[in-house]
Amino acid sequence: MTRQIEIVLGVGGGIAAYKVADVLRRLTESGHGVTVVPTRSALRFVGEPTWAALSGRPARTEVFEDVHEVPHVRIGRRADLVLVAPATADLLAKAAAGLADDLLTSTLLTARGPVIFVPAMHTEMWEHPATVANVATLRERGALVVEPAVGRLTGADTGKGRLPEPADIFAYVTDVLARGTAGPDLTGRHVVVSAGGTREHLDPVRFLGNRSSGRQGYALARAAAARGAKVTLVAANVALPDPAGVDIVRVGSAAQLYDAMLAAAAGADAVVMAAAVADFRPAAYTDTKIKKAADGSSPVIELERTTDILAHLAAHRPDPKQVVVGFAAETGDASGTVLDHGRAKLAAKGCDLLVVNEVGADRGFETEDNAAVVLGADGSAVTVANGPKTALAHIVWDLVRARL
Ligand code: CTP
Repeated sequence: MTRQIEIVLGVGGGIAAYKVADVLRRLTESGHGVTVVPTRSALRFVGEPTWAALSGRPARTEVFEDVHEVPHVRIGRRADLVLVAPATADLLAKAAAGLADDLLTSTLLTARGPVIFVPAMHTEMWEHPATVANVATLRERGALVVEPAVGRLTGADTGKGRLPEPADIFAYVTDVLARGTAGPDLTGRHVVVSAGGTREHLDPVRFLGNRSSGRQGYALARAAAARGAKVTLVAANVALPDPAGVDIVRVGSAAQLYDAMLAAAAGADAVVMAAAVADFRPAAYTDTKIKKAADGSSPVIELERTTDILAHLAAHRPDPKQVVVGFAAETGDASGTVLDHGRAKLAAKGCDLLVVNEVGADRGFETEDNAAVVLGADGSAVTVANGPKTALAHIVWDLVRARL
């Protein structure tokens, strides 16, 4: 039997503490042992009985309780992971300064596994130079500081600073745990990923689309975030939960995807085109719904080519060191194997890496798994056996990282 994962859940004094009770529930329900360590002010929002009942353990605040057990050392050392949520501006400042005036801050100094801070605060506090500097310090030291979500804050205001949804925080923790002791090796890097499939509208109700669910692109975004990268995810028509800590730009058509990718790629270390982009769009858009003709004839729709975004990104890199990755769905035919077509496409697109999927009736699309060969412009080929899209995502990031 494998050992139970031990997690320390540090709770800061913010209103979002009530949402963290749900995160705790998800962690314990998935079989992890969780010790909750709230700050004194956290207990003003959600009381000790809630944390104790949901974790099945006492939830201590002070180092002066059970002193004979030296709790901060015991709890910190045995933790496989420390999750701090909500991480308030005050808590980030204390952690950055290495203060240790309660059980949580003391535990942070004894913990040796991954530490994740999930900040939640008003936009002004998040953007204050003091907070910005503290976050940078914590990241430099190897902690993961999740970018807050944008949305409704306490009161009537909206902006950046919202705690991500409990399910998304749980998914992030799962992604980090899956990495084991491998540290966040993409900290300080900015990566851009496109996901989903574009829709090219014919009229207000009809479009030409494709079967891409966005799962592979979302897996890439989640994997990069779990490795500490700043991630911009350009999502075309995807109905999946927002990954925590990822900036999402939503687009519909190939033209919108082109604009969003060009804007996001400026200043990025790596760009991955996982989206299925329409190669053709209707040459004309009809403002009103196209009606059936009285004479029974069918309309003829003229198509025009869209811009090849991947080829454009590869040819116009803002920095020659930027790594550009494409995907290709191929089938073997009389003119060549899947890999022959992949090699030719890699050269034609001018990218550094091309993830080649062999497609058949039910392979690749709308599934949880993916098998691929990742071709490099340097002639390399890495075969990835059929497995979770997350596993393929991590291999792609390993290969990208080796080229950064
Ligand atoms: N792609 C793109 N812009 C397009 C079409 C495709 O950026 N207008 C990108 C996809 O995101 C993917 C890669 O190009 O990363 C390969 O797409 P694919 O459709 O396989 O290639 P095509 O150039 O369309 O070649 P084919 O003629 O085989 O369809």
